[in-house]
Amino acid sequence: MTVHIGAAPEDIAETVLMPGDPYRAKWAAETFLDDAKLVNEVRGMLGFTGTWKGNRVTIQGSGMGMPSLSIYANELISTYNAQTLIRIGSCGGMQSHVGIRDVIIAMTASTITSPSSGIFREVNFAPCADYGLLEAAVKAAKHKDATTHVGGIYSSDVFYAERPDLDEQMVRHGILGVEMEAAELYMLAARHGRRALAVLTVSDHLQTGEALPSEDREKTFGDMVEIALEAAFP
Ligand code: HPA
Repeated sequence: MTVHIGAAPEDIAETVLMPGDPYRAKWAAETFLDDAKLVNEVRGMLGFTGTWKGNRVTIQGSGMGMPSLSIYANELISTYNAQTLIRIGSCGGMQSHVGIRDVIIAMTASTITSPSSGIFREVNFAPCADYGLLEAAVKAAKHKDATTHVGGIYSSDVFYAERPDLDEQMVRHGILGVEMEAAELYMLAARHGRRALAVLTVSDHLQTGEALPSEDREKTFGDMVEIALEAAFP
C-alpha cells in the first residue's frame, strides 16, 4: 500500500492505463477487461485490475493535472513496479485539421511548467513517448474508425487559459491538442526507465468552440482504450 493507493502489491499489473477520471477507469475496466476487480478507492480515485486477451492490466485514475498524475504515477512506478503507463484521456483540439472525436497519439508533450521543473531548472527537457508503444499504437489505430493524428501535444497547468498568445504559439508550431497530464508522465517514465504513451480523444476544440456531446463519448473513447490496449500487447 502507498499513501494514495490502497492495493496490495500483487493487485497492480505491470501495465497500467491511466484516465484522468476515476469513473472512466470504472467504465473502461467494465467494458474492456475480463474479471475486473476494484483494487483502489482511496479518495475515490478508482483503480481496477483484470485481464485483456489474457494479459493483466490495471486501469487507475490519475486525477486532473500534472501534480495529481505525478502522485499516482510515482507510486505505481516505485512501489508497484509498473513498467508500462499509458494515459487515456481527453484533450482540446488546436489545429483546424484536427476534429472533434479524432484520436491523438502524443509523440511529444510540451509544457511550460510541471512538477519536474524543479529538477530540470534551466534545461528544456523534451518529454517524448516510448517509441515501441507509439509505433504499436499507430498500427492499432489504422484499424479503427476514428481519424488519428500523431504528433506533439501541449500539457498545460490550466484548463481556463488566460494566455491567448501562448495558444497561438502552440498552434503556430503544429501542436495538435492541449491536455494537462502527459508531459509529467513522459518525464517520470524517462527518469525511472519505464515506457509511457498518451492516447487522447479530442473532446472540445479551441478554435471552433465545439464540444463532444456526452452521449457520443463512449464510442469514441472506446477506440482510444482499444488503441492503448493493443499498443501495450501488440
Ligand atoms: N484544455 C486543457 N485540457 C483539456 C482541454 C482543454 O481545452 N480539453 C480537454 N482537456
